Amino acid sequence: MFINHLFVYIFCRNFPPTLEQKPRLDYLNAVIAESMRKSTVVSSGVPHFVEEDLMVMGYFFPKGTNVMASLTTIHNDPEIWGPDVEDFNPQRFLDSGTGKFQANDNLIPFSVGKRFCLGKNLAEQEFFLFFANLMHQFQFEAVVESQKELPSIKFSDDDFNTAFLRYPPQYEVILRPRL
Ligand code: HEM
Repeated sequence: MFINHLFVYIFCRNFPPTLEQKPRLDYLNAVIAESMRKSTVVSSGVPHFVEEDLMVMGYFFPKGTNVMASLTTIHNDPEIWGPDVEDFNPQRFLDSGTGKFQANDNLIPFSVGKRFCLGKNLAEQEFFLFFANLMHQFQFEAVVESQKELPSIKFSDDDFNTAFLRYPPQYEVILRPRL
């Protein structure tokens, strides 16, 4: 058993994560999914026009109406995600029995439908490679000495992100190489 663990440790430390390992890294996938939910980088999607007069759930949209989807609203709806919707909680993407990563159809950072993001697959793979490799190589620490707080994770505290793209404010962290 010890030899097994030692082998896995040496093997994992020496070889950076690759896309082949993605399906097996359940917790990492859950952290990325929760980060996508909390960040909702493109908060209102891209504007579209209604091509013909349309009734949706009792609302009338005349031809030519400009519509935008509030992905932020969907990603922060307590009826979908539960009362802890404001928390960063990767567990919500893990099966409570098996601990396996469990995708959720309500997570739609790349939107849905015919015009969903063309770069979805590329972006998802880049996220995985960047994040997995940063975690593999570095330990992340808050800068305690400067007394600077990390940005709040709570959407309700987020008063500067009103534009097309959401992004975090500038902040400092320490990255220490992992041995
Ligand atoms: C964090 C990464 C990204 C996010 C969250 C994101 C999200 C989105 C969203 C929400 C839309 C609007 C979809 C709609 O209107 O229904 C969109 C459109 C689009 N995205 Fe992305 N995107 C990302 C990265 C990328 C990358 C890396 C590329 C290209 C390499 C890309 C190319 C496009 C294109 C071409 C469209 C327009 C698609 C169309 O109108 O048919 N995106 N994206």
